[in-house]
Parts: sequence; C-alpha cells; structure tokens
Amino acid sequence: MSSYPKTSALMARGREFLGTDHAILCGAMSWVSERNLVSAISNAGGFGVIACGAMTPELLDAEIAATRAMTDRPFGVNLITMHPQLFDLIEVCGKHGVGHVVLAGGIPPKGSVEAIKAFDARVIVFAPTLALAKKLLRSGGDALVIEGMEAGGHIGPVSTSVLAQEFLPELSADHLVFVAGGIGRGEAIAGYLEMGAVGVQLGTRFACATESIAHPDFKKAFFRAGARDAIASVQVDPRLPVIPVRALRNKGTEAFSAKQREVANLLDSESLPMAEAQLQIEHYWAGALRRAVIDGDIENGSLMAGQSVGMVKSEEPVADIIAQLMAESEAALSRR
Ligand SMILES: Cc1cc2nc3c(=O)[nH]c(=O)nc-3n(C[C@H](O)[C@H](O)[C@H](O)COP(=O)(O)O)c2cc1C
Repeated sequence: MSSYPKTSALMARGREFLGTDHAILCGAMSWVSERNLVSAISNAGGFGVIACGAMTPELLDAEIAATRAMTDRPFGVNLITMHPQLFDLIEVCGKHGVGHVVLAGGIPPKGSVEAIKAFDARVIVFAPTLALAKKLLRSGGDALVIEGMEAGGHIGPVSTSVLAQEFLPELSADHLVFVAGGIGRGEAIAGYLEMGAVGVQLGTRFACATESIAHPDFKKAFFRAGARDAIASVQVDPRLPVIPVRALRNKGTEAFSAKQREVANLLDSESLPMAEAQLQIEHYWAGALRRAVIDGDIENGSLMAGQSVGMVKSEEPVADIIAQLMAESEAALSRR
C-alpha cells in the first residue's frame, strides 16, 4: 500500500509508463544531471534523466554505463535534437537498452523517432503548441512534456498554468502528459494531476540536492535567490534571434545584452556577415553553464534557474525532496 494513495492513484498511468514508484521526473539539466543526481533520483523512486547536452557519443556511452552501475531502476536520456551526432547518440542509447529517450530543443528530425523505437524505447517529446503536440503524438511520441516559461533553462513564451489549461483537457484522456515549469511544492503537483496530468517534471527544485555535483557556490546562489531573481534573457535586436534562457541575474546576463549590442553594431556597419553574427550570439553561452555549475563562477557563468528557486532554501537529499513533494500533494488531495 502506497503511503500516498490519492497521489499515486492519479499518477498511475505515469508510474506505469516510467516504471517508477512516483511519476516525478527530474528534468535533464546540462552538467547537473549526470550519474550522481540521475541515479539518486531513480533510487528514490523518481525518474532521473541524463542530460546529454553537447556530449560526444563516447562520453554519453560512459555516462550511461556509470549511471547504470549506480542504480538498477529506470532512468532516461535527454538528447538535443540539433546535436550534429544525434543518430550516433541514439545508437549509444540503443546499445545500453535505455528505456526512455527525451527529445528536446526542437522538432525531432526525420527518422529519429523511428530509430529510437527500433530498440523498443519510449519517446518523450516537448511541444510548444497544441497542434504540434498532436502531430508529434500521432507520429510516434509516447508521452509529452509541457513546460511553461517559469522554468529554468531555455523557455517558451507561455506560462505553465495556461499551457496546462490548453493542453490537458484536449489530450489527457488519450495521451500521457507531464507538466513542468515552476513547480516547487506538492500542492501544485496535486492541482496538475487533478487536471489530467499523469505526472510532473521538476528541475530547479532538484538542482541543489545533496547528491547534485553542482559547485557549492552555485548552490549558495540558489539558496539566496528569490523568484524575481530568475529572469529571462532579453533579445536586443530583431535580426539576432535569441531563445530566451531563464537564469539568475548576474554580471553574465548583463554582459550578454552588451554582446548583442556589439554584434548588432557590427551588422550596422556591415563589418560582419549575418550568419557569423548569429553564430557569435549562439556560441556566447556555450560553456557558460559549465562555468557556473562546475567551476563555481557565479558572476560570469550562467546560473540557469526557474522561478521556483525561491522555494529552494537548503541542500537536501533527493529522497527527502521527493517525500516532501509527495506528502504535500497527498495532504492537499486529502483536504479536498
Ligand atoms: C540548470 C538547468 C539546466 C537545464 N538544462 C536543460 C537541458 O540541458 N535540456 C533540457 O531539455 N532542459 C534543461 N533544463 C530544463 C529542465 O529539464 C526542466 O524541464 C525545468 O527545470 C523544469 O522547470 P523548473 O526549473 O521550474 O522546475 C534545465 C534547467 C535548469 C534549471
């Protein structure tokens, strides 16, 4: 008998799909979601997801093997669709018999979903609009994550509460939908489950867990921050597209705006071709997250964090965080 019967019942389809005790995913976080955090989440009854990010196939191979050595529970792998070696990475997942592959960062390229299905894994997709969600679920996506702009990392323009109202009534009868973005407490989980979600995905709340390898200074910045410190990056020039990233305000976020103005000026004076200018903007952040998470450079690195950062107060073991979320959800449902 589950200690959280009402929550577990509402999570039943999500738990069955993931093969876990609780339908709580820890969303992939580049540099943070590696063997230690991923295995801790899965060992605590949640679903850990390795962030492949810009890893080579060789590095991913080693990370999956190391994670498997630390847990015998299910975990997934998050692949970024524009990775130049996407199909090699899929092959590595196949070699290890990974059960769930999350495709993030854009529309899955032709053949990628089929390549994952070929080794019998489940495909989890993201979709910013209902129309695209329906298309992806028709063409092989097994489950969907909707992620609102409260989230940490790369974000879309719409809030979680609005996405949930748009997507869940349309999709939840026939499809598996997980809700992400801005979830810090179990009461919110209970609400989304009642609306038809089969589970939830959190990132920010887990980033500073005891088992997370994030630098102590990165964690301290999270503990100090409030919701309004987690701001979305701003696009300065219409010619230079910037996918907004939500992160804690620091010198790096200001320098990014300055960099955009500098590149825009070069465009004005025609001293830089457009493609090169856009590339410079894109590459500016490459490595910035690593600088913050691994090196602890919290001034110039990227402190990606969601608005729920204000609810992250101290370092806690993953098992305690999950138990607390489940207990809060259960209490909320019991009061209904
Ligand atoms: C530090 C950090 C890094 C992230 N990196 C990635 C990533 O590499 N790939 C991805 O799909 N999502 C990434 N995300 C998003 C998370 O997977 C998750 O969906 C999000 O954090 C959920 O919202 P929350 O932060 O409000 O809990 C990142 C989030 C954070 C906070």
